Amino acid sequence: MFKFVPTKIVMSNKDLYILGIESSCDDTSASILKNGKVLSNVIVNQNIHKKYGGVVPELASRAHLSNIIPVVDSALKESKVSIKEISAIAFTRGPGLMGSLIIGTEFAKGLGLSLNVPVIDVNHMQAHLLVHFIKNDLKKPSFPFLGVTISGGHTQFIYVEDYFKMKILGQTLDDAIGEAFDKCGKKIGLGYPAGPEIDKLSKSGNELKYKFPLPKVKGGDISYSGTKTAFINFLHKEKTKNQNFIDENLNDICASIQKNLIDNLLSKIEILSIKNNLNTIVFGGGVSANSYLKNRLDKASKLNNWKVFIPELQYTTDNAAMIGIVGHLKYKDSVKSSLNSTPSPRLTF
Ligand code: KG4
Ligand code: ZN
Repeated sequence: MFKFVPTKIVMSNKDLYILGIESSCDDTSASILKNGKVLSNVIVNQNIHKKYGGVVPELASRAHLSNIIPVVDSALKESKVSIKEISAIAFTRGPGLMGSLIIGTEFAKGLGLSLNVPVIDVNHMQAHLLVHFIKNDLKKPSFPFLGVTISGGHTQFIYVEDYFKMKILGQTLDDAIGEAFDKCGKKIGLGYPAGPEIDKLSKSGNELKYKFPLPKVKGGDISYSGTKTAFINFLHKEKTKNQNFIDENLNDICASIQKNLIDNLLSKIEILSIKNNLNTIVFGGGVSANSYLKNRLDKASKLNNWKVFIPELQYTTDNAAMIGIVGHLKYKDSVKSSLNSTPSPRLTF
């Protein structure tokens, strides 16, 4: 049987060019980094899922298949870097959808083999936090910190001792916070993903108009499915009284459910920051783009003496620059990857 040999990383003083590839869910993305600075970060969203109200895994992998070469090509062109200059290829190994991960992983391995450069596997959730270490003029978080990853697939609280020393303190027992935004949004007729729409509509709504129960989950874990059920029951009750209830109160409904979802998150962060003596709070994932969360964090950070880090907007949702920076850090650490590496949909750390 043909056996791949792990590629050795040979350190040199030359410029380090990393090609990052992200394909864990429904965004195909490629990025070129030079010495940890982002030269390009091309993201192609898959609009096909909108009409189904959520990501359809089979359609996602098919779309990655047709997008991946043009996306990598655009990232190279935009950065003005030739493919021959690439020092290593970093790719998302997991967690994510199996079919989607296969496309990025196998593409990266094939390209790495043909260019004779190392491939570096990356944990998508670590990347959402390590995106803060992209080389730019922004202040960097100092270790240790409380990492909070909030996306459509995850809600995790992580003790981050160092780049690759991370421990999960707690996570959602059911739905992720982004999933809760999307599912509640769907119930009031919003398109997928509903999170950004709820954010926008809430701006002219009264967040105190409707109250929903806050789940009581012990320890570091969190739950969102009870809120979703309470929300559905509330809508059902109100609609039996007034058929136009949603249309007539859309902004207030959005603001009120958004407040509940964020209250739940912030109360967990408060508990975990005190318990673990961490006052640097570092966010990652799509929901960290939420403007109401940012406002609440402004107030909470003054009250609790927190140092809060939220990624630049282009790095909140899934993107390959975050995969590239992890590739850069691992390369610097001489971390070897193997061409035998396979996708891992439930990858943890
Ligand atoms: O990190 P991401 O791009 O993909 C996953 O790994 O899931 O996150 C997507 C999620 C979706 O659930 C979307 O509704 C949510 O992030 N999202 C937002 C906002 N922007 C994106 N949720 C609330 N407010 C936003 N502004
Ligand atoms: Zn993500």
